[in-house]
Amino acid sequence: MNQQREFPDWEKLYQEGQIESMPWFNPNLDSDLEQALIKLSIHTGVALDLGTGPGTQAMELAQRGFLLTATDISATAINQAQAKAQQKGLDISFRQDDILNSRLPHEEFDFVFDRGCFHILSPERRQDYVRVVQSLIKSKGYLFLKCFSHLEKSEFGPYRFTPESIKHIFLNRFRVISVEETVYQGTLDPDPQALFCILEKS
Ligand SMILES: C[S@@+](CC[C@H](N)C(=O)[O-])C[C@H]1O[C@@H](n2cnc3c(N)ncnc32)[C@H](O)[C@@H]1O
Repeated sequence: MNQQREFPDWEKLYQEGQIESMPWFNPNLDSDLEQALIKLSIHTGVALDLGTGPGTQAMELAQRGFLLTATDISATAINQAQAKAQQKGLDISFRQDDILNSRLPHEEFDFVFDRGCFHILSPERRQDYVRVVQSLIKSKGYLFLKCFSHLEKSEFGPYRFTPESIKHIFLNRFRVISVEETVYQGTLDPDPQALFCILEKS
């Protein structure tokens, strides 16, 4: 599960690839996030879509009335997502930003949604990620995290996590509210096995 994994040059990928055919492309709001927002009665607020890529999740959240910032390490991904959002008439603050060296303001967000960024970071940077993300969230705000599950048996792709490993990684800075087995909806068939985690800033 912790074998060293290789990832693309994200900027090159977005320069050369077709966004709609990327494995994570989902034009709809992630159904686990949608259910979590209903369950926690979160209907308004300031949100960050971290590692926004195609920007679909940011756009879906903005369409529901949330005030959105969307960041990605790839400037091309940001430019393409911004153009799509403008076509749809959505006001989203798109910014190129590396979460491990973030320039985002502290305590700005009611919640952060990470659908696929954390699970591609190298294991030795995970505590840096936890520290930075915690600093961006308001007191009692949430991190909604989707990552690959240990139940996903395919050879390639992101790091895999068990519910116990998530608890261990986040325990010092977040209250772990739930970690559920689910799937990662995108363009792959079948959908990869995933975890959806609700973490509250402690
Ligand atoms: C699996 S994709 C998911 C994209 C998007 N969240 C979605 O669900 O469609 C992971 C994204 O994380 C971005 N990324 C990788 N490393 C990052 C970093 N250090 N900081 C911010 N974004 C990063 C990649 O460019 C890519 O767009």
